[in-house]
Amino acid sequence: MHTNRTFTMIKPDAVANGHAGKILDHIIQAGFRVVALKYTQLSTAQAEAFYGIHRERPFFKDLVSFMTSGPIYAAILEKDNAVEDFRKLIGATDPQKAEPGTIRNRFAKSIDANAIHGSDSNENAAIEGNYFFSEFERF
Ligand code: RTP
Ligand code: MG
Repeated sequence: MHTNRTFTMIKPDAVANGHAGKILDHIIQAGFRVVALKYTQLSTAQAEAFYGIHRERPFFKDLVSFMTSGPIYAAILEKDNAVEDFRKLIGATDPQKAEPGTIRNRFAKSIDANAIHGSDSNENAAIEGNYFFSEFERF
């Protein structure tokens, strides 16, 4: 398992608002290397499986409906201490609470439409990366 890799999605709100290029640049300028990248749209079944850990939460239905509402960018990223450093780079789940200069502070509008996903552990980074990418799609 690669402990220097994380997984991200640029969410439908950020893509629809034209922020995907700026967000990708922000990520690269922060020292992350793009290992794999894909432009796609999640089906309901895919979004339900991806966020399965939240199945019992009150916001689950809204989360799935939001995440399937338009195309996303999915990516595997590489850097020392990738998971923790990337969570710092994106900021708090609620953009109102995200530190100035973080991606969610710069580009997110609400806790639902919060621009970007970042894996929360090395284990989930590997699971999530494997969900989207084969070995042949990683460089
Ligand atoms: P993500 O998985 O998308 O990177 O977000 P996260 O780790 O910061 O937050 P998480 O707890 O994993 O929640 C997943 C997504 O569900 C929505 N959420 N809404 N209304 C609420 O209290 C609430 N809590 C979470 C957010 O859109 C969050 O990104
Ligand atoms: Mg999460």
